[in-house]
Amino acid sequence: METSFDPGRLATPEVIANPYPAYDALRADSPVSGYADWPPGTVPGFDPPIQAWALLSYEQVAAAAKDHQTFSSANFQQGTDAPTLMLVNHDDPEHAKLRRVVVQAFTPRRVAELRPHVQAVVKKLIDGLPDGDVDVVEKLCAPLPAQLMVRLLGQPDEMTDKFQRWANAFMLSADMSVEERTQSNMEMVGYFMQMVDARAKRLAEGGKPGDDLVDALLVAESEGARLTRDEVWRFCFTLVVAGAETTMYYAANCLRALVDNPDVFAKLREDRTLLSRFQQETLRMAGPPQRLFRKVMRDVEIGGKQIRAGEWVALFFAAANHDPKVFPEPRRLRLDRDNAGAQLSFGHGIHFCLGAPLANLETACLIEGVLDRFSAMNPGSEPAEPQRATLLQHSVTRLPVLFQRA
Ligand code: HEM
Repeated sequence: METSFDPGRLATPEVIANPYPAYDALRADSPVSGYADWPPGTVPGFDPPIQAWALLSYEQVAAAAKDHQTFSSANFQQGTDAPTLMLVNHDDPEHAKLRRVVVQAFTPRRVAELRPHVQAVVKKLIDGLPDGDVDVVEKLCAPLPAQLMVRLLGQPDEMTDKFQRWANAFMLSADMSVEERTQSNMEMVGYFMQMVDARAKRLAEGGKPGDDLVDALLVAESEGARLTRDEVWRFCFTLVVAGAETTMYYAANCLRALVDNPDVFAKLREDRTLLSRFQQETLRMAGPPQRLFRKVMRDVEIGGKQIRAGEWVALFFAAANHDPKVFPEPRRLRLDRDNAGAQLSFGHGIHFCLGAPLANLETACLIEGVLDRFSAMNPGSEPAEPQRATLLQHSVTRLPVLFQRA
């Protein structure tokens, strides 16, 4: 293991491809280290990197995520015209007010009702797989969440590719210039503003709300509070960027874990009740978002370091998930781990991922579809290609596999 790790180099393509040894080296040295990275909304390599304190131990990451008063989500500096995300970039009390209204529309029941549709999409995608080597990121993991998001928001099917490309550009994992990225964000914002305006107008003219999420958000109410049109379109685009891209990578990490662990594949085929354990354990071992930033609102001491108001911290959820104090043998995928559910890949505290039930549903249906249809899933002839552009999304951009039909 590397011991003389330079924290300034944490956000390099090599480390992004496999960051866990770097986290271990840093954490062993100190649970809190200074490092440089790119702030949200900027493109690596184009903007001055942000200087942040990296929080790497489970205890510190979980405590900081819970203490949203000290560690603010609202104070992001934006390097491009990237619009701020709904909920994610709000602090309480505004966050609580918005989330209370949003959950009236984005309910567990609405998500559960999507199951037959998710299964149908999975079946169609698997039916369409060619023989031989298949890149499952392209053929399964990418189209599934984008198609689902189109359906959830009641948009025409032909928007699927656009949703996928917008999410990809916003989340920095596309190879794009700042201008191209800004252009893509503007196109996305324009689409959602217009769509929500048209919907709101129809409802204002006495139209009956449809059964999709957009109309549900427009009429949702909690304690007399409603969402403005502005908030609704911003929430729609938040769902697209937070929902399509992360879920694609979550699904890819699950399939990759199955390729890497044929014994686990066989166990899951025998006993489907192990599926949610497998999902939790994959999220622990390889959650897509590695770290998220917060701005520090008052002077604090963490892990023996003095951190001043106005400085930045990065909550390394992924490093916390590999903290050996909490998860012994952190590199081993173990279905018998009894605390895998304590993993932090969906965040922690007031910002806990609102889409977690949907992301889990999509991924479960995909894995079940694969287990139903195939007796084994072997590595393809080409190697997997890790995502190297941003620590925001640890995953593969290509995962060639060779399926064996059952
Ligand atoms: C937060 C939506 C999938 C990780 C959020 C929030 C929303 C959201 C709206 C903000 C919650 C708040 O601030 O109150 C979705 C949707 C998804 C999805 C619709 C897919 C259907 C995922 C996946 C992951 C993930 C697959 C990773 C495995 C996170 C994390 C946060 C979060 C870490 C916390 C952000 C923070 O603390 O600043 N998600 N998400 N999400 N989501 Fe998701």
